[in-house]
Amino acid sequence: MMTSKDPQPSVVSFGQSHEKALSVATNILPKLHIRNGRSVFFVDNKPFLMLCAQTNNSSNYVAALPSVWESVEALGANTLQIPVSWEQIEPIEGEFDFSFLDTLLEQARTRNVRVVPLWFGAFKNTSPSYTPPWVKLDNQRFPRMIRPDGDNHYALSPHSQELFMAERKAFTAFMRHLKKYDRQHTVIMVQVENEVGVYGLVRDHSALANSVFEAPVPPELAKNLGLKNGIWRDAFGKDAEEMFTAYAFARYVGRLAEAGREVLNLPMYTNAALRHPTAKQSPGQYATGGPTFNVLDVWKVGAPAIDMLTPDIYLPKSHDYNAVLDQYARIDNPLFVSETGTHDAYPRYFFEVLGRGAIGFSPFGIDDADYKVHPNDITGFKPDDIEGFAANYALIKNAASEWSRLGFENGIWGAARGDNNGSRHFNLGSWLAEVSFDEWPFGYRAWSASNATGLKQPNEFKNAGVLIAKMDENVFLVTGKNARIEFKKNNETLPNQQAIFVSVEEVEFTDAEWLFQRMWNGDQTDYGINFTDLNKTFRITLGSYNSKSAQRSKPKSY
Ligand code: DGJ
Repeated sequence: MMTSKDPQPSVVSFGQSHEKALSVATNILPKLHIRNGRSVFFVDNKPFLMLCAQTNNSSNYVAALPSVWESVEALGANTLQIPVSWEQIEPIEGEFDFSFLDTLLEQARTRNVRVVPLWFGAFKNTSPSYTPPWVKLDNQRFPRMIRPDGDNHYALSPHSQELFMAERKAFTAFMRHLKKYDRQHTVIMVQVENEVGVYGLVRDHSALANSVFEAPVPPELAKNLGLKNGIWRDAFGKDAEEMFTAYAFARYVGRLAEAGREVLNLPMYTNAALRHPTAKQSPGQYATGGPTFNVLDVWKVGAPAIDMLTPDIYLPKSHDYNAVLDQYARIDNPLFVSETGTHDAYPRYFFEVLGRGAIGFSPFGIDDADYKVHPNDITGFKPDDIEGFAANYALIKNAASEWSRLGFENGIWGAARGDNNGSRHFNLGSWLAEVSFDEWPFGYRAWSASNATGLKQPNEFKNAGVLIAKMDENVFLVTGKNARIEFKKNNETLPNQQAIFVSVEEVEFTDAEWLFQRMWNGDQTDYGINFTDLNKTFRITLGSYNSKSAQRSKPKSY
């Protein structure tokens, strides 16, 4: 019943032209596919890369939409993530109001933008702030978690069946509304809850939760994790309370998603407030029980109706950022960066994220709705760099489907400039690529003459990165910003061969085709392909000749 992880041949066959696919596609449900460890998201029966814009939290009212659309346009996003909250659609129990949703979808359609509603229900950054008053004020019917001393904690209990039933009613009403009024699937995916978990507590100590904690671990979980049957403490030792809470949240969110998908089978995900990827943190210090990296396996068992557990990344340092991507890009978890910071440290990660085969990327809080989440230079980085994101989206926007298809079928790689400015190396099969960030467009930085040219220092190139997709064994599509890419023969496959460019074609994607603009050669390729701030895409064909030693094509004097 849920999303099959096996692609259906008719859907993943790329033999048919996009035009033909489109003509039959309008009612086909958006769908995620995983094959050979790679993922792709199909919308209208063709690959779709979500170049997202996420609004601020309180922009889910008609009055805020003009500013939202202005920002979506400035960013060049093809997908809008925007809250649709429980308090908004069911202010009085049993009485539903979808007027905002209707206006939103109508306006999105005229702009050709797809929508991912963020279902803000019982848990928004762990808190019940977006529940209607009849929920948040009735702690008898909808209990909060209980602390060890018996006092109420702020978060609602994921063990409460009454809460689940009430929220399921609201969520399925919302999905039913979509089914009825969004037959063209302007909504392509749904986020279920927002950053669930709990701060300052590891588990609920209510009588109900205590009794479940003293009962055996559900057989399904024990079996999938290869644990011996027994109570939580025996199965998980010191981690028992956290695993218990993770499973409770996974079941809550997973069952909600399942109920929603029974109405309308759209892909669904839930986002994570991260546990720090490398620093030592104890449960309670982060959103405990949410889909943090250490409990992803528990979530996968508890919430099979959730396709993706997605990281919200607000860690500007490249070491941390990349560690999170490695934790969440798993064979069973398509990568989607569902939120990221907008300071000028972040646009570069577009390359790193897409290079890991992600199906989407999303800067958070892009609309100018009278406030900014991080108005000052609080993390040592400058305020928002919407232009940086826009510049990167512009690199691939026309060809986003094609980049996605190539990545899924043949492979994709990407690198963002790291904080140490170091080079990055990729094995592309027959070829090796080196991406570097500290070179001039002509020659080598080490040559003092070039140093005198007055070009910017590399650390000014914050938004720097390269994206590579394989078109054929010897042909690559490459784009980027403020970085150099060079190629070598992979000596494991053919020793004593030196790589040469057969051709470096500047191309543009128009009318579903790569159109040749001009050939790059000479100074423009002698030192690799050097991306600047300009918007350039190349189709590079590589060849080789027989020689034991690599010789730079140009010596130092030029
Ligand atoms: C993460 C949350 O998911 C967002 O809704 C928003 O609150 C941001 N944090 C603010 O940084």
